[in-house]
Amino acid sequence: MELTPRLRAVADQVPQGSRLADVGTDHGYLPVWLILRGMLSGAIAADLRSGPLERARQTARQHGVEERISFRQCDGLSAIGGNEVDAVALAGMGGDTIASILAAAPWTRGKTLLLQPMTGFPSLRHFLQSHGYCILDERIAREGGRLYTIWRATGGQMDPLSRAELWVGQQREDPLRGAYLDRMAGKVERALAGRLASRNREEGEIQALWEALEGIRHMRKEL
Ligand SMILES: C[S@@+](CC[C@H](N)C(=O)[O-])C[C@H]1O[C@@H](n2cnc3c(N)ncnc32)[C@H](O)[C@@H]1O
Repeated sequence: MELTPRLRAVADQVPQGSRLADVGTDHGYLPVWLILRGMLSGAIAADLRSGPLERARQTARQHGVEERISFRQCDGLSAIGGNEVDAVALAGMGGDTIASILAAAPWTRGKTLLLQPMTGFPSLRHFLQSHGYCILDERIAREGGRLYTIWRATGGQMDPLSRAELWVGQQREDPLRGAYLDRMAGKVERALAGRLASRNREEGEIQALWEALEGIRHMRKEL
């Protein structure tokens, strides 16, 4: 069994020997792969829906590790105790969903968090910095023509992020960073064009998007 580059980038940031909760596990690839490599001392695979959780069970059964994973059908971390895990993965979900799952479980500030949001990057970074979390590392993975960001976070203080950094994170060495900044600049440009064309123009929002775009272009030049 191999992980795709996106999930592999998440797996690479899980601390060796940790007890992991994979929330929104779907097919369960992440915990199964990590268990097969002896990376975990415990695993919980959780999902809101029964179908995905059943898929996770099947994956675990196929690989002979069903007994080593606790399967929980629940919303976010609602059926998982803070004393059961050291690390929590939230991958392949919208940023707003991830923020609301963390907000409902403040004990996550004492854990290693592996976050791979699909959307809502500025609002998730803003949530983290204003709720006592700090992003320790960000990586970029390319998969099927798309670029994904994977963040490692925990509780703590973070220097306030600029408008551009809310969109793209802080400048870190990564071979995919240039391509990532280009794509994100395109995303902000499209958001800006949409706001400019809107009948109900919100000048504050437009100004914020301009600032983000200029900041991203500046980062690209500095790279
Ligand atoms: C696109 S899949 C991602 C699967 C896997 N984590 C990955 O990254 O490949 C998203 C999964 O999150 C689950 N999900 C969505 N909202 C959730 C919530 N509030 N709590 C738990 N699971 C949720 C969905 O049922 C779905 O199985």
